[in-house]
Amino acid sequence: MDFELNCPKARRVSPAVLKYSFISSSIAIINIKLNDIIGFSLIIRNWIYLQFVFLHAIFVTEMFLSFLAFLTPGVLPLSEREKEKPIALEAYEAMAEEFDARIETKSYNAYLERPATLSLLPDVKGKHVLDAGCGPGLYAEILLDRGATVTAIDISPKMIHFAKQRLGDRATIRRANLEEPLDFMADNSVDIVLSSLVLDYIKNWNSLFSEFSRILRDDGYFIFSNEHPSTKWEVRDDPRQKRRPENYFNLEIVDFLWRGFGKPVRVTSYRRPLSTFFECLHSAGFHLDKLIEAQPTEDFKRANPEDWDKVRRRPSFICIRARKSL
Ligand SMILES: C[S@@+](CC[C@H](N)C(=O)[O-])C[C@H]1O[C@@H](n2cnc3c(N)ncnc32)[C@H](O)[C@@H]1O
Repeated sequence: MDFELNCPKARRVSPAVLKYSFISSSIAIINIKLNDIIGFSLIIRNWIYLQFVFLHAIFVTEMFLSFLAFLTPGVLPLSEREKEKPIALEAYEAMAEEFDARIETKSYNAYLERPATLSLLPDVKGKHVLDAGCGPGLYAEILLDRGATVTAIDISPKMIHFAKQRLGDRATIRRANLEEPLDFMADNSVDIVLSSLVLDYIKNWNSLFSEFSRILRDDGYFIFSNEHPSTKWEVRDDPRQKRRPENYFNLEIVDFLWRGFGKPVRVTSYRRPLSTFFECLHSAGFHLDKLIEAQPTEDFKRANPEDWDKVRRRPSFICIRARKSL
């Protein structure tokens, strides 16, 4: 399925160049005026003119190019797109330490998303599991304790650091970007792919799901959780959001200000319609096995009484178990 995406404009003027050329050409103009009043020597006068012409040329060219960029439709050319940084990298680098410290008991994870996602796991004893987007390695630890062999990957170097601290050499841990092919994983080498709350940050589900299908053995499980598409759509009226969803049926970028992991961090993610989940699974050769809309456990009430009423009445996370079709 093809999506429109609200990308930044094709070209941006470097603010530093703009500021420098604008200030310098203004100084040059003032110099020329001063010259009229005071009278400079010919060499100084020529030097001032040259500086004015050169810097002003840069300024005018930059303004012209930025105007052209403004007229360009808001989709990045491929070469620029390839250079795009993973959308959530900075945010997770910023909160990695607090995330690691709080994730075990954080109400939304420990008593809402995690029980639902874990309930989808089959017996993992002796199975090879890929924890895709492992964060500080809490899921990987649970899998290891249940007797699985684990490969854990994440884009954030700090998250990888905390995963290594938590798991030691019990798991294979490496930095990897899920937006790129998983060349380091062999075909049919994994029994289960588990990806908890990571796909919100991945633009191209078709490519990633195909990669998961390639590395999974026949009949293997692909289990993932995601913020509920309905909730992501409804937060449109939340004034804390910088970029709000506009068209439910498009893939869009949204921002949330997270206050739950230390100092507030703006987290950017993708919002997509529910139908996409199944279209992408289907086109990568998966069929849906089970779907859960997570509901809080009683412990949530004790840990976070303020949010209890909200989370027990409205959708928060969607958890899916799919299987590779034979
Ligand atoms: C909400 S955390 C979930 C961590 C872990 N799965 C858990 O549930 O505890 C999201 C994780 O996805 C990782 N992530 C985001 N974009 C990624 C990408 N393009 N490739 C790999 N990991 C990514 C982040 O670094 C972060 O550790």
